[in-house]
Amino acid sequence: MSTSGIVYRPRRLRATPGLRRLVAETRLHPADLVLPLFVKEGLTEPVPIASMPGQVQHTEETLGKAVAAAADAGIGGVMLFGIPARRDATGSQGDAENGILQRAIRIARHAVADRTDGRTPVIMADTCLDEFTDHGHCGVLASDGTVDNDATLDRYGSLAVAQARAGAEVVAPSGMMDGQVAMIRDALDDAGYLDVSILAYSAKYASAFYGPFREAVDSTLKGDRRTYQMDSANSREGLREADLDLAEGADMVMVKPAGSYLDVLRSVADRSDVPVAAYQVSGEYAMIEAAAANGWIDRKGAVLESVTSIKRAGADVILTYWALEIAEWIK
Ligand code: PBG
Repeated sequence: MSTSGIVYRPRRLRATPGLRRLVAETRLHPADLVLPLFVKEGLTEPVPIASMPGQVQHTEETLGKAVAAAADAGIGGVMLFGIPARRDATGSQGDAENGILQRAIRIARHAVADRTDGRTPVIMADTCLDEFTDHGHCGVLASDGTVDNDATLDRYGSLAVAQARAGAEVVAPSGMMDGQVAMIRDALDDAGYLDVSILAYSAKYASAFYGPFREAVDSTLKGDRRTYQMDSANSREGLREADLDLAEGADMVMVKPAGSYLDVLRSVADRSDVPVAAYQVSGEYAMIEAAAANGWIDRKGAVLESVTSIKRAGADVILTYWALEIAEWIK
């Protein structure tokens, strides 16, 4: 032993930027990132989302530009959310052929149709009713006001088929109804969309971190979603949800939110044999933006650390509102 008495010195591999880069276990790549985008029917100008600085509700025109920018940046995909002009009890605009989300999907497909550079982001759509219902719940209501699981499944099947018909490559059921993946798979297959994939929001928690998203989609929800989204206290249940979705034919599974559920993400990643996604949600975005705006944290450092941690915990695919900016930083 040397005179110092210290044999192992892990600091050696941290001594220079080159060494640190060489031994980094986790690396972000633009192709891992999915950019969520909001488009609102009838807008003539994009509307900033106050609680999500830098994010907007797009017009149809600016949506096309945002998707093209995502392609230029080499981003892996876009996740589209539509905000309709009219809402009703069953969310009928959600599967209307000319509903805002179907229009958005067609615009997104068109924006990348001519690309031959292999950097075409995958077009994904949120498959849920909450943006389209006047009560703001993710499903249709029974006469007693509760969310009716099985009646909602029929609606989800129809949403998924409408999205596939418009050109969605991936549908993403986010409503946490039991049996939703199997139902959507059946509906897609019956309609001939054998190649449209399902990204299942499998372990989706009832979370306070969705707060800013409610502004982003002009949500009308009163109350909460605790009868269908999961309780933050539970991890085993998250694994069960993921297992069920895998058994029902999910092509990818998701954990959401990401930052406060990295343990669940790790556990799902360890047992999943399909790609695992994680959604860094609106509140995670807003917290870092707000602290950075106050000069309390280093914005770029905090953003990269938060997203790297999500990848380190096992995410293959990361939905983040910073996707474009991160792609610029790391290219
Ligand atoms: C439901 C949906 C929500 C989010 C994505 N899909 C809201 C909710 O479940 O209340 C939240 C995303 C975010 O907060 O960034 N369609």
